[in-house]
Amino acid sequence: MGVVGLGTMGAGIAEVLARGGLAVTAVEADPEALARGMETLTGSLARAVKRGKLAAGESEEIARRVTPAGKLAELSGADLVIEVVPEQLAIKRSVLAELDQVCRPDTIFATNTSSLSVTTIAAGTAHPDRVVGMHFFNPAPVMRLVEVVTTVLTSPAAGAAATDLARRLGKTPVQVTDRAGFVANALLLPYLNHAVRLLETGYATREDIDLAMTAGAGLPMGPLTLLDLIGLDTSLAVLEVLEHEFGGTRYTPAPLLRRLTDAGRLGRKTGAGFYEYPVPESPSVAAEPAAEVPGTVTLIDPVAGADAASTARAANLASLLAAAGVNVTRDPAQDTDLIIVAIDETGGVLGALAEAEASRVADAVGLKLVNSGFGEIAPSLLTSALAMDKALALAAKLGLRTVRVPDRPGLLVGALLYPHLRDAAAMVSDGYAKPVDVDSAMTLGCGYPRGPVLMLDEAGLAETARVLTAMHAAYGDPALVPPPLLTECAEAGLALSSLG
Ligand code: CAA
Repeated sequence: MGVVGLGTMGAGIAEVLARGGLAVTAVEADPEALARGMETLTGSLARAVKRGKLAAGESEEIARRVTPAGKLAELSGADLVIEVVPEQLAIKRSVLAELDQVCRPDTIFATNTSSLSVTTIAAGTAHPDRVVGMHFFNPAPVMRLVEVVTTVLTSPAAGAAATDLARRLGKTPVQVTDRAGFVANALLLPYLNHAVRLLETGYATREDIDLAMTAGAGLPMGPLTLLDLIGLDTSLAVLEVLEHEFGGTRYTPAPLLRRLTDAGRLGRKTGAGFYEYPVPESPSVAAEPAAEVPGTVTLIDPVAGADAASTARAANLASLLAAAGVNVTRDPAQDTDLIIVAIDETGGVLGALAEAEASRVADAVGLKLVNSGFGEIAPSLLTSALAMDKALALAAKLGLRTVRVPDRPGLLVGALLYPHLRDAAAMVSDGYAKPVDVDSAMTLGCGYPRGPVLMLDEAGLAETARVLTAMHAAYGDPALVPPPLLTECAEAGLALSSLG
């Protein structure tokens, strides 16, 4: 096997191949980059030994299978070469042109491109039928997905070789066609981009954005942490291709992403991105609440009695408060320490107060309990700083981790999650990918505990459409309109995951 380019992904792929028992020649023209790449590889193996996942002897054997090299000519005997050089067509083309000269006529060339067209890359080579895409995910030794990209030019034998290799490496190959972003990146990157936009517009803090998606949505990493892992330059490149191919607001790179990339803050690989690496050890001292825990609370249900979910939401909060020894009243005329509006994802604190004829608007915050350990606190524009502090003190007493979010449709978890799920439904609705492929891509490639299609079914298709429609009404972005299949399935009472 040959691997060309020993950046984060190249080193990871070389490790995966060597772990699979294959002899690997790892080529990197720049000697410093070659040494760094080999360090990444041996560091990753050492980590596995330390965690008891590999015996020291095994690790040495795996490392011995990898031969570092400075020249492509060393790949003359390779059966299959994976190129993992930077995402620039000119660089990839020149590498493949050189490989055409040195490799056997039957060598298969795989590209790990995450953004460029495999067809375009293949078309520039002497044997385009032998070019396939093998798209691995970061960290390559951990993520199980490999998107196998075949083009109109790829021979069935080359496609089969890539699929067999992925299986041999213990990965799950998913066949995808050569469309920008394939499946996983086409879904992941617009969502990550949206998170950057929320950060740069001051909608929420860096930590709250990440916490919302881990504690609130159950994802393994927050979007900004994940961008730092992928690399901001790579992420920007994928977005530019998606924007070029599909157009639309979701793909237009957030200016902050471009600025950080220009500044060389590319994420973990350069030591800084949205965060700094290594992350300084900070003693985990919980901040002292700035206000006393309120002893009496007025609870307001925005659509009292109108819908079962709303009643259940308010009742849930009421029992949580009561269990914590807080006196709860539903009477807006009564004087209490704090007013909590039991909002849903669509928010609406001031509207609910007006409807309930509650006059103490400065004393009121919205609270959306996302799960038993996590909530979103939404002050209105008229909420006082003291009321916000009391709400935070109360949340701490209830054992809730919270994020602060503007009182706007979607709040924070929904603002990021629903458009992301909508994109997944649109991909199915457009006939580009089957529900099972969408879910495999995101569970195996990005570590989601459940795929987006399943998440949609669990959230309820009608409910998702309702929140998206409220977000669309607030922002007017056509990318928020529920796709036809979502509303059709909701009306027919069908689960999206039940479609072929
Ligand atoms: N290299 C090698 N192994 C690593 C690793 C690394 N950089 N980081 C973590 N691991 C391993 C650990 O050794 C550990 O292995 P074992 O379970 O065998 O002991 C395992 O991963 C879990 O690690 P941790 O317990 O330290 O950390 P965690 O539970 O927080 O998980 C994670 C880390 C696996 C990275 C997890 O957070 C995750 O799945 N994140 C999502 C990553 C993701 O979305 N990747 C796709 C990005 S998109 C892409 O890459 C495509 C593109 O083209 C842009």
